[in-house]
Amino acid sequence: FWAILGYFRDISGSPKLYDMAESFLWFVPGPHLRIPRLLGKMRSFIARRVRDNARTLDPSSPRDFIDAFLIQMEKEKDNPNTEFTLENLELTTLNLFFAGTETVSSTLRFGLLFLMRHPHVEEKVFQEISRVVGSGRAPALTDRPQMPFTEATIHEIQRCSDLLPMNVPHRLTRDADFRGYRIPKGMDVYPVLSSALNDPKSFKNPQNFDPGNFLDEQGQFQRNEAFMPFSAGKRLCLGEGLARMELFLFLTTILQRLRPQPLGPPEEVPTTPLESGFAKIPPRYELRMVPR
Ligand code: HEM
Repeated sequence: FWAILGYFRDISGSPKLYDMAESFLWFVPGPHLRIPRLLGKMRSFIARRVRDNARTLDPSSPRDFIDAFLIQMEKEKDNPNTEFTLENLELTTLNLFFAGTETVSSTLRFGLLFLMRHPHVEEKVFQEISRVVGSGRAPALTDRPQMPFTEATIHEIQRCSDLLPMNVPHRLTRDADFRGYRIPKGMDVYPVLSSALNDPKSFKNPQNFDPGNFLDEQGQFQRNEAFMPFSAGKRLCLGEGLARMELFLFLTTILQRLRPQPLGPPEEVPTTPLESGFAKIPPRYELRMVPR
């Protein structure tokens, strides 16, 4: 976990130039020099898990992604062009692990900050949880359609967190023409998600944390095409559905039982990211979780 957090922080922090001038930066001192070491640590952790799984594998009853991949590797072992190799297994697991943990936990941490900064929003979410779910059972995904304000608040948390402002780089596989520009094959392109998420033409109140950005006049949830924290197009985030489920369940379950309370006045709760580069990292803060 610490390796993932450290890695995420380091690639988001000082080496903002990392993406643009990677080879040059390896000669410059700084925390980015830890990146290969942290990546190596995560990779050896996963290699260990793969070895454990291989040792205890029962092909008739796969336990997880690694087992399923190992079974497919065995099936394709005589195919010289197979993609099911040990290296691909380690790197794909690393990708899922890395892409699926820090993203959701950073969004939740940002979410608690925004809610403490705007206690009236937190109160309205709690009211909705009380009305739809009550206190006798845990929130379930089937509650989501009945909870437009909560849905809008989670969208607003994601919009304001702006977690991957420049998305991940995409490399052109062929020449492309875009709005009068020729973009050559091999060029790295950064689809800047931040500009869509903060677009004043698309959101009523883009500068502020305001769930109203996702509500219509009747207080019903309103989709918005500019909402693209998971990117857009064919390479859109593989984990979007999972992430949205996690954010809804974690946040509603926390707020059903506990009220996040700042140690000082709400307007002093920090919301400026600790790092803002590849990813935005929420600032560190202390809070009290007060039982309802
Ligand atoms: C709030 C949470 C999350 C955000 C904001 C987010 C955002 C993104 C973005 C912007 C991309 C790049 C898409 C592109 O290349 O255009 C991406 C890719 C990806 N995400 Fe997520 N993600 C989140 C959670 C997750 C979760 C929970 C998983 C599940 C394991 C996941 C797995 C992936 C994977 C595997 C890719 C690479 C897909 C590919 O290259 O084909 N993400 N994500």
